[in-house]
Amino acid sequence: MLQRTSDADWWRQAVIYQIYPRSFADANGDGIGDLKGITAKVPYLEALGVDAAWLSPFYPSALKDGGYDVADYRNVDPRIGTLEEFDEMLGALKSVGIKVMVDIVPNHSSDDHEWFQAALKAGKGSKEREKFIFRDGLGPNKDQPPTDWKSKFGGPSWSPSGTNDGQWYFHMFDSSQPDWNWDHPEVRADFIETLRFWGDRGVAGFRIDVADALTKDMSDDLPSWEELTKLTHKKLSNGNGHLIHPLLDRDEVHDVYRSWRKVFNEYDPPLIAVAECWVAPDRKHLYASSDGLGQAFSFDILLCNYDADEYRRCIKHSLKGSAITGSSTTWVLSNHDVIRHASRFAMPKVADNRNHPLVIEATNKWLVNKFQDPKPDVESGLKRARAATLMILGLPGSTYIYQGEELGLPEVVDIPDNERQDPTFFRTAGREIGRDGCRVPLPWEASSKNFGYGSGALPHLPQPDWFEDYAVDVEDKDGKSTLNLYRQALRLRKQLQTKEELEWVDGTGENVVHYKRPDGWEIIMNAGKTAVTLPKGKVLVSSTLDKLDDGKLPGETTAWLKAE
Ligand code: NOJ
Repeated sequence: MLQRTSDADWWRQAVIYQIYPRSFADANGDGIGDLKGITAKVPYLEALGVDAAWLSPFYPSALKDGGYDVADYRNVDPRIGTLEEFDEMLGALKSVGIKVMVDIVPNHSSDDHEWFQAALKAGKGSKEREKFIFRDGLGPNKDQPPTDWKSKFGGPSWSPSGTNDGQWYFHMFDSSQPDWNWDHPEVRADFIETLRFWGDRGVAGFRIDVADALTKDMSDDLPSWEELTKLTHKKLSNGNGHLIHPLLDRDEVHDVYRSWRKVFNEYDPPLIAVAECWVAPDRKHLYASSDGLGQAFSFDILLCNYDADEYRRCIKHSLKGSAITGSSTTWVLSNHDVIRHASRFAMPKVADNRNHPLVIEATNKWLVNKFQDPKPDVESGLKRARAATLMILGLPGSTYIYQGEELGLPEVVDIPDNERQDPTFFRTAGREIGRDGCRVPLPWEASSKNFGYGSGALPHLPQPDWFEDYAVDVEDKDGKSTLNLYRQALRLRKQLQTKEELEWVDGTGENVVHYKRPDGWEIIMNAGKTAVTLPKGKVLVSSTLDKLDDGKLPGETTAWLKAE
């Protein structure tokens, strides 16, 4: 048996920095960020103080969905780099103690994937088509889709094979992203090979895309879209209260993850995995189980309004959830799929904050209105964002930071329609503007071409003029910048995250989140507008980077304190 020599629990309280490679740093000047760009910024990541970097897809791709349309799972897109450059980047990050996680996209591939191309060519009834989900169309000419289901990006979820045989293929997302058939042993074996490929190259783990959707019941009697949407709103029982859905969160998916766990455990330390799964709260632990993926994203905190009650409820609930399997919780305020939190908090509260699509839809409406009505309060948005970040960084568990949030970047709203890239925009005829606004390339240097992102071609998404104020070199020099807040907090956090314990403190004030951690640490967030009195102790850091030596915690501010 393998003798473990290294820290197998490194992930439990780690800070993981999400890199969206195309928008991070463009070393070769073609307007698309690349691996060499990441390598060049290793000192920046080291100074920030993160434990690991998770790279969104950098694989060969037609970029119809920002790289989540993967044509080859075991290679690097030539516009982003080469496998040798991946190894160099990994080595450079490892040399400063930063681990690397990569994104695995197992629900669907790209229509450019060689197996999908082979399936189209081989025709109806072929064994090649069995690896995907092909069905005959309806009607005498088979020119109607097999069902009226909609894709997650809008529009139909079936597209014609284009080979004049009356067949259609299923895609939960864009038509360029055919879903794999997870009943097929070769599909299963191929993903195991992919996991080993990256594991052998030295990655520490994986983020698993749409982890709840792989296994599907595509038997002939498929429900209508109306029936399907009712299913997601109504709990049906399978004996243990679980919703039965032909596409999502089916029990069989965990057989896949149990087989992956065996692979993870071949490594020392074992590879880790975190599931992206928007499932019912009482199902999340299944993905986080120690014989499965081990950890699951808890997006609940991302959906909270800036409100103490909502945060307390969410934290209690998330900690309870992770305790079921002995995993640790993940805290996330921003990622490449949602409106940046400095902008979310600049907007009025959303009534039903627990319902993800509503939040996104409501915030989208404000964005489409170009922030006119109601006008966002940008200053307060950033103040709240900093306070919320400092509050979650104090919690037990791991925290994911999305590139640019450490600069306090707001969402970019004014992207001209002809420069938008998100398939959501196109598949909804512009009704939903999509996620490009949080994927605009980072500003590194205020006075350089393309704000130092790359010295050649224009960035693949346009950077607004006001990015200048948020450039790394500007924030670096400003002692109270968001960047310096993140640096200080991450440095301190290394001393804070010993035991995974938390004790609530009540009565500090209305609209206040107050908790204690081991060794006399106290974290207090004032979500209200009026100042509250701080308990006795030394202020280690505050979200405004003020010293707070009058013993007061102003509104929309968080402080970390240590008993003296
Ligand atoms: C979730 C990813 O985070 C998102 O960016 C992508 O569009 C979908 N999965 C489809 O892969």
